[in-house]
Amino acid sequence: MSIKIYVPRDSAALAAGAEEVAAAITAEAAKRGIAIELVRNGSRGLFWLEPMVEVQTGAGRIAYGPVEVEDVVGLFDAGFQVGGMHVLQLGLTEEIAYLKRQERLTFARMGVTDPLSLADYQAHEGYAGLRRALGLPATEIVQQVLDAGLRGRGGAAFPAGIKWKTVAGLKATQKYVVCNADEGDSGTYSDRMTMEGDPFMLIEGMTIAAVATGATQGYVYIRSEYPHAVATMREAIQVAEAGGFLGDNILGSGHGFHLHVRKAAGAYVCGEETAMLESIEGKRGIVRAKPPIPAIQGLFGKPSVINNVITFASVPIILSRGATFYKDYGVGRSRGALPIQLAGNIRFGGLVEKAFGVTLRELMYDYGGGSASGRPIKAVQVGGPLGAYVPESQWDTPLDYEAYAAVGAVVGHGGIVVHDDTADMASLARYAMEFCTIESCGKCTPCRIGSTRGVEVIDRIASGPGEQRPQQIKLLRDLCDTMVHGSLCAMGGMTPFPVLSALDHYPQDFGMTVPDRKAA
Ligand SMILES: Cc1cc2nc3c(=O)[nH]c(=O)nc-3n(C[C@H](O)[C@H](O)[C@H](O)COP(=O)(O)O)c2cc1C
Ligand code: SF4
Repeated sequence: MSIKIYVPRDSAALAAGAEEVAAAITAEAAKRGIAIELVRNGSRGLFWLEPMVEVQTGAGRIAYGPVEVEDVVGLFDAGFQVGGMHVLQLGLTEEIAYLKRQERLTFARMGVTDPLSLADYQAHEGYAGLRRALGLPATEIVQQVLDAGLRGRGGAAFPAGIKWKTVAGLKATQKYVVCNADEGDSGTYSDRMTMEGDPFMLIEGMTIAAVATGATQGYVYIRSEYPHAVATMREAIQVAEAGGFLGDNILGSGHGFHLHVRKAAGAYVCGEETAMLESIEGKRGIVRAKPPIPAIQGLFGKPSVINNVITFASVPIILSRGATFYKDYGVGRSRGALPIQLAGNIRFGGLVEKAFGVTLRELMYDYGGGSASGRPIKAVQVGGPLGAYVPESQWDTPLDYEAYAAVGAVVGHGGIVVHDDTADMASLARYAMEFCTIESCGKCTPCRIGSTRGVEVIDRIASGPGEQRPQQIKLLRDLCDTMVHGSLCAMGGMTPFPVLSALDHYPQDFGMTVPDRKAA
């Protein structure tokens, strides 16, 4: 019997040399006459250990990492193919503390299965949700999503079931399901991991949405910088079609659903849902005014469900285990679990899925192990480039949409970017404004012109005459107020979040003395 060895095919593992390691393992096994089955799995999300190689043993899967090509001969010498002891041995994968303490609902299969094997997917609860959905009336599917309390994971946290209900309730010749996989936020990668490591989960979630709403066509709009995700999704769609899980007659149910991949245009603003629709339609990615909302007039003017990858990916488990199971995780109105992404200056960067309610302090220290530089952590940007900088006084706030809103922060897509005490918050505030000048779609004045003026004002605060500082800070606050209230979309409307949080929590970095602070 051959020995099963897993080497991830996720981009993060590939960047760390997984392809070369896989080739070296294959060659060495052949040389020694050892029969192996090499599975290219997704990543478990413990990035500092990549490439993390796993071996199936009678006791369970044993992990080794980070493995380099030069380690392969030594690993075979140590009998790693039967779980032998080696300096890189990490023990049973499931017992690694970073993984064991997580609550993996959406990411339960991540790194466990072969991403393109339908058999493996189904052996691990895959398609149980769709099978159950096909036996329910459409209204009941929507009700399950509503009852589970699932909110959009792309940023705005809008209840998914309400969008689905709107689309389901409309009569139209054509309806669409559109997945936003543009994933432009800094420090985020859970969408990419899903598409590369468990693509059928996304396909299943979108198919359930199609069945619930009467949509027959779907699009996945994938960030252009994700070539592996694009390739894996395309292949997974073909496999699902061949297996009867996509096409004219899904599992003989009479429901038809066809799924297409669109490579994104490479602009941050194309992640804004209406700019994304323009882009899929082949036009320049410019934000549309709302109303009409996309649920009523979306892609090609037709009713469209638009959700983020993780929102759709959360649906199969809700249907297979029931809304109550999912809803039992979380706090307040933030139900279920969130795949949180630790990035920036952090020792153990990676994917941590936890029920809502976990704190930043737990995430950064119990999982992340503190800063990579070993210096004190100063600021954490949560929720992408438009998210606020969260100071230490707020690190015990539970990760919960409402609790974060109450302190002027956002959870967003769950990206956490850590900065140590060498960070200059005035420079980071300037960067936020500059990002907006570069990425603005240009449709409205507060964003297009305001962000350019914002960069200039921050420059004057940083290097202008000190006596003018209070006045310039007041100007910056006025400008931010105009951007928040006058912008057409959250690009201009939220750029003030990082700027003002930097100013409010780290005034010393803006050269403010105590009297300045009182004046501003
Ligand atoms: C400038 C900008 C960029 C955005 N980028 C993304 C993105 O990359 N991915 C995403 O899912 N949502 C993004 N959003 C949010 C989408 O507009 C939309 O709210 C989301 O796709 C809806 O899905 P959800 O309800 O499942 O979160 C962005 C919003 C703005 C304003
Ligand atoms: S806020 Fe910026 S990105 Fe949004 S519509 Fe206005 S100009 Fe375009």
